[in-house]
Amino acid sequence: MRLDVVTIFPGYLDALDLSLVGKARRDGLLDLRVHDLRGWATDRHRTVDDTPFGGGAGMVMRPDVWGVALDDVLGLSADPSGAPDAPDAPGTPDARGADAPGAPDAGAAAHRRVLLVPTPSGDRFTQAMAEDLAAADQVVIACGRYEGIDARVAEHYRAEPGIEVHEISLGDYVLNGGEVAALVVVEAVARLLPGVIGNPESLVEESHGAAGLLEYPVYTKPPVWSGLEVPDVLASGHHGRVARWRRDQALARTAERRPDMLAALDPGALDRADLKVLAAHGWFVPAPRAPGTPVAPTRVRVRRATGADVAALAALAAATFPLACPPHMAPADVQAFIDTRLSERHFAAYVADDARYLVLVAEAAGELVGYTLLVLPREPGEPPYAPDVADAVGARPAAELSKCYVLPAYQGTGVAGVLLEATLDTARTLDVAGERLAVVWLGTNQGNRRAQRSYSRHGFTVVGTRRFRVGDSLEQDLVMARALHVADPTAQHDGGR
Ligand code: ADE
Repeated sequence: MRLDVVTIFPGYLDALDLSLVGKARRDGLLDLRVHDLRGWATDRHRTVDDTPFGGGAGMVMRPDVWGVALDDVLGLSADPSGAPDAPDAPGTPDARGADAPGAPDAGAAAHRRVLLVPTPSGDRFTQAMAEDLAAADQVVIACGRYEGIDARVAEHYRAEPGIEVHEISLGDYVLNGGEVAALVVVEAVARLLPGVIGNPESLVEESHGAAGLLEYPVYTKPPVWSGLEVPDVLASGHHGRVARWRRDQALARTAERRPDMLAALDPGALDRADLKVLAAHGWFVPAPRAPGTPVAPTRVRVRRATGADVAALAALAAATFPLACPPHMAPADVQAFIDTRLSERHFAAYVADDARYLVLVAEAAGELVGYTLLVLPREPGEPPYAPDVADAVGARPAAELSKCYVLPAYQGTGVAGVLLEATLDTARTLDVAGERLAVVWLGTNQGNRRAQRSYSRHGFTVVGTRRFRVGDSLEQDLVMARALHVADPTAQHDGGR
């Protein structure tokens, strides 16, 4: 591959004689040429810039000087050998490897030629771009200085058949010129060329590689340094566990540092253990809306509901409540329950009265996908709800977890668990007339084993039963409860039985 860097500071690129890139040049794997732009300037002072049209600070690099330089280097000149003869000019190979522009191999029709213009206003340079450039035949990097290169240069070469032009940025900061970006591009591209890296395996698990994750942390000897130990698993010799640990670390790091990358992951490539790590960081993979259309991992945030959520909450409640009702329940009864307990008017009242209700919502991409409704007693000693529940739930003050629902697409993803834990965490901070809340209890339909299993995973135990009316249907519920403030959550709520 041929790489040309055009700059007014050729010495800046001396570092490309070192290390792997230097070796790749010496081994003939990379034909890297550095050119001094001033060699194409025509005046006595070898001027390459001028004042900006429209006024403003600084100088702008002249398109005419860049034009002849790039025509030469890209092999577009009528007479590529007619390079100017100036000290340190292209055409006079120097110790840094600067070389004659416009070598004939650059112009051949089948060749893929790319002109890169580093600029803070370009597209972000990525590993994917580096991989794409590694497949080109010639990459020319035009290093601007001052306020940049006259905009017509990129426009002109974009219109040139057979030349791709990319304006690229290293990141959201301003450098003094494109030379550092040229170093970055050469380093990123050269290491991808066949033969440059001794062990191509080391390219496989890198950050920004095919897995779409940041790389896991790496360690070497000594096993203890500065009081810090290498994680045991890495010395276990158990390849499966090492691989799992590394994958967990990569997922966790990516979630913490580059959450934007998670949204681009292929959900089909995630296993159960991956999903668990992602869920711990607030990322979930919802079920596809239609078969064969996987949905990318989605960030789900849990927060208190506000007045602005009322309509969405009522819609969510109307969508989710029927799904948790046993099949024998008449639709009219289900609807009557929604109308009398879960309408917009009701949610407006719940959200407005935070001494009596706690409403938390789970939100994904601006949409409510789950909610909980906790009902607090008015006074510490108020017995819960009905005599059968009061018998079962001994300790006071006791709040009822009246609702905990998520949309079907998020069922089984862990969102309900996150909502429930957030509700319990908030409940631990609440008090009733100065006495801290002691217990959360709930009623769940006897037939709903999945819900019961899930609640027991969150520390709830069955403490009794209750009868529960939905419209004209009188249901038998299990009552489950858990204490909020003890290590053993089952220890405190059986006093009343
Ligand atoms: N030139 C000046 N700032 C730059 C940046 N952030 N990226 C690439 N080239 C630049």
